Amino acid sequence: MALKLIAGSSHPVLAKKISKFLKTPLTPVIIKKFADGEIYLRVSEKVRGDDVYVIQSLTSPANENIMELLILVDALRRASVGRINLLIPYLAYSRQDRKAQSRESISAKLLADIITASGADRVITVDLHANQLQGFYNIPFDHFVGYPMFAEYLKEKNIKNMVIVAPDMGATKRADKMADLLDVPLAIMHKVRYAHNMADVTHMIGDVKNKTAVIIDDMIDTGGSIVAATSALENAGAKKIIVCATHALLSGNAIERLEKANISQVLLLDTVPITDSLKSKKFKVISLAPLFAKIIKRIHRNKSLGELFTWENKATKL
Ligand code: R5P
Repeated sequence: MALKLIAGSSHPVLAKKISKFLKTPLTPVIIKKFADGEIYLRVSEKVRGDDVYVIQSLTSPANENIMELLILVDALRRASVGRINLLIPYLAYSRQDRKAQSRESISAKLLADIITASGADRVITVDLHANQLQGFYNIPFDHFVGYPMFAEYLKEKNIKNMVIVAPDMGATKRADKMADLLDVPLAIMHKVRYAHNMADVTHMIGDVKNKTAVIIDDMIDTGGSIVAATSALENAGAKKIIVCATHALLSGNAIERLEKANISQVLLLDTVPITDSLKSKKFKVISLAPLFAKIIKRIHRNKSLGELFTWENKATKL
């Protein structure tokens, strides 16, 4: 099976970078809109029998990008491709993975069912809101994590007296692993939500006084959680605050809020397109393109992906 890369329209910059690392051109796709907003899509070259990797981040506008992905998978299936692998750097609806109140939908599961039914053979993604979401899919699901990339960057900066902070209970496992990797202590916050995208920190376990506090979260959406965590850290006497977040959704005035907050640096990954407004030195974006290229190469050659998780072996870490 020949390796083919196809980009949806949501994250062309990342797709081009991956294509460069793999020295494999992107197979052209025509994507247009009908007058009523419906999507027209056609893969322009032969893909029969090929091992196709579709790169589509389900970032805003999420519903449009999801529909485009499904239509692309359908087109590929009907073109008799050998295997359809979906590289979805940001998987939308992941936060809706349970019923928090009665009569709600579990849209993360609904999306999993739709993607599976579309005919995809595999999903590759990074930093799901909750790891167990993998089980919603009945097809191979390769889930990668971003914290080792942040840890590597911080290690290089040789930051002294660091503490890793989980901004809520859900982030504890990720923060604990990062603290373990860097051999530094952990602090945990209790966050309450009083409305969608509105948060407050009520309690904190751990000592952050006079330390460089590194908050690690899966995403920054409106920035509400990070701003609340930052104030709590300031009140508890942290000397310096660094934020690490995988998915830079940065909705509404998030950038402005982060600029104003007492944060020295915001480290992000490029799972969603990075807006031009992130010009200030406060923001540093680390690209996942080299890792994605390695993942694709290994899957294509049926090689183990476990070997990429070297950070899991403390003896060889960083
Ligand atoms: C929530 O539990 C997530 O891990 C993020 O902390 C949250 O979704 C970020 O959203 P916002 O930036 O709007 O607070």
